[in-house]
Amino acid sequence: MSGEMYKVSVVTRQERLKDFQDALNEIGVIAYTVSAVEGFGTQLSFTETYRGVKQEIHLLPKVLVEIVVSTVPVDDIIEVAKAQLRTEEPGDGKIFVSKVTKVVRIRTGELDYAALTNDAK
Ligand SMILES: Nc1ncnc2c1ncn2[C@@H]1O[C@H](COP(=O)(O)OP(=O)(O)OP(=O)(O)O)[C@@H](O)[C@H]1O
Ligand SMILES: [Mg+2]
Repeated sequence: MSGEMYKVSVVTRQERLKDFQDALNEIGVIAYTVSAVEGFGTQLSFTETYRGVKQEIHLLPKVLVEIVVSTVPVDDIIEVAKAQLRTEEPGDGKIFVSKVTKVVRIRTGELDYAALTNDAK
């Protein structure tokens, strides 16, 4: 089996993580990476410098969820993210989608689709 592989990176609020994880599980996303990160959103960055005077910069704690998929549709992940993470308040986060050119499962040397799935051999 072949096909494009994508990484969906979601930066969002820490407090929404558990519900997001549960919803990911329901659409068949089992493997992903979660990191604690700090970030700036757009509405804060514009106050970084005003007339040459440095303003206080507020780095906010966020979580970064990185999901690499081959069979689960990216749009399904985006829909789940919007459903679970949208509070309509500033700071709900962002989703970044990029193409992945290679995946290697270190234990077996399997590549790409085979490295992303757990088909019994
Ligand atoms: N362009 C970007 N590049 C990389 N990371 C980003 C970018 N925009 C947002 N982020 C990350 O996402 C986090 C949450 O962003 P945030 O939700 O505040 O985005 P926003 O564009 O300000 O939207 P909103 O108006 O809803 O707040 C940021 O703290 C940062 O970690
Ligand atoms: Mg923001």
